[in-house]
Formats: sequence, C-alpha cells, structure tokens
Amino acid sequence: MKIIVASDYDEISRLAADRVAELVRQDPGAVLGLPTGSTPLGMYRNLIRMHRESGLSFKNVTTFNLDEYVGLSPDDENSYRYYMYQNFFNHIDIQKQNINIPDGTAEDLEQECVDYENKILSAGGIDLMVLGLGNNGHIGFNEPSDHFPNATHVTELDDSTIQANARFFESIDQVPRYAITMGIGSIMRCRKILLLASGNAKARAIRGALEGPVTPLLPASILQFHPDVTVILDTDAASELTRGV
Ligand code: GLP
Repeated sequence: MKIIVASDYDEISRLAADRVAELVRQDPGAVLGLPTGSTPLGMYRNLIRMHRESGLSFKNVTTFNLDEYVGLSPDDENSYRYYMYQNFFNHIDIQKQNINIPDGTAEDLEQECVDYENKILSAGGIDLMVLGLGNNGHIGFNEPSDHFPNATHVTELDDSTIQANARFFESIDQVPRYAITMGIGSIMRCRKILLLASGNAKARAIRGALEGPVTPLLPASILQFHPDVTVILDTDAASELTRGV
C-alpha cells in the first residue's frame, strides 16, 4: 500500500484527479470505477477543469459506478445516477453508452446484479477503482458483516450509514434501507485502487483499514491484500495512524 498524507482536502482532490488523468492520457480507453459521496467531489471538479482547460478527453473511457440506492428513480436528486450526471458526466465528453450505474429500480434486482457483474467482465475488468470510505469502514455499500461478499449484490444498509447519509435527505425516514453495491470481490479484481479519505470522522476507519487485522467487520481492511493500492488522506483522516507514514 502506498500512503500519501496530503495537507488538506484540496490537495487530496488534486492528487486524485492527477492519478485518474494520468491513466486516461496513457490509455484513452481506460475503464474506471467511480464512487459517490462528498469526498470525491473535489476530484470530479478538478477532472472537469482538466477537460475544459487542457483537453483531457473521456470520449473512449468506460465507467462503472460502485453502488446505487434501491428504489430511487434516476431523476431523484439523491440517486447516485443523478449525482454522477450533475457532478461529473454532464460536464465532460463521455459517451452515454459507456456509463454504467446499477439500476436500483430494476424489477428483478438479483438479475440486475448478475448483469452488472457480467458487464464489468465484458469490459475487460476495471483498470482503476476510486473509493471513498464509510465512517464504519465500508467500501461501496459493503457494510461490516461476518463475511466478504464477492460479486455485485443487494445489501441492507447499516443504521450508522443511514444516519451518516441522512444529511442529504429531508428526513432520515427517506433514506433507502437497501442498495446495490459491487462486492468486495468486484473491488479486489480491479487492477489499481485509489482510496480517498478526508476528515476526523474517517480517522478510526482509516486506522482499522490500514493497520488493523483484515476482517469483514471493517470491510476496507481487505485492501491490505490488494497488490496496487494508493491511499490519499488528509492529516485529520491520518490522525489515528500509529505506525507513521
Ligand atoms: C456512501 C457511499 C460510499 C462512500 C461513503 C462515504 O455510503 N456508498 O461509496 O464512500 O458514503 O461518503 P462521504 O465521502 O460523503 O464521507
């Protein structure tokens, strides 16, 4: 694992965007795995700026989003599809047919998960997966549990996740209870991983993920077994690390 401690959120966002841009310049047909949440917003802003100012093109890039709430329509402001178009896709030259986001309104959710995993395989796998981190150590919506789920699946959200994500909804009752998420296996099969974390609320999960035992009780700890992970943190998120970086 390569660990980079940035001075602040802006630096995390710049460094993360630089990594994505470097890959896309080297391989204009790259396959990217993308997260939502507040952490990657600065990275998306930087990528949009690079697209506008220095011609970074996403025309042949394929994307797979990590997860989506079950039951929110695509134009619901809280759906991850809406977030991705609003914060990234509407501002770059990506082709619509190259965008993949699980459909949380599919009639047959189990089939949707199988189809999504197959689409990742048919695209040749994911070159670079960008991840945020839940306060409880989740990645995607792989919540703490007694096992590491393999492929894309339907999951029930943790109470702590519902509380953490309630800030985006009018009331906590509106936060969906279920989501579709790539599995831990889907994430571990990606060729490179970039994990981003900012702020004190992530410090405990970061310590567990980077220094703790590998356990499904803290899903991000599995990343210790991946051969190509870069973690970009700010000093707050790194504040509970004991081994020094
Ligand atoms: C959600 C998403 C995760 C994300 C996490 C952290 O639960 N499913 O993919 O990493 O939130 O979000 P934030 O970056 O807002 O702290």
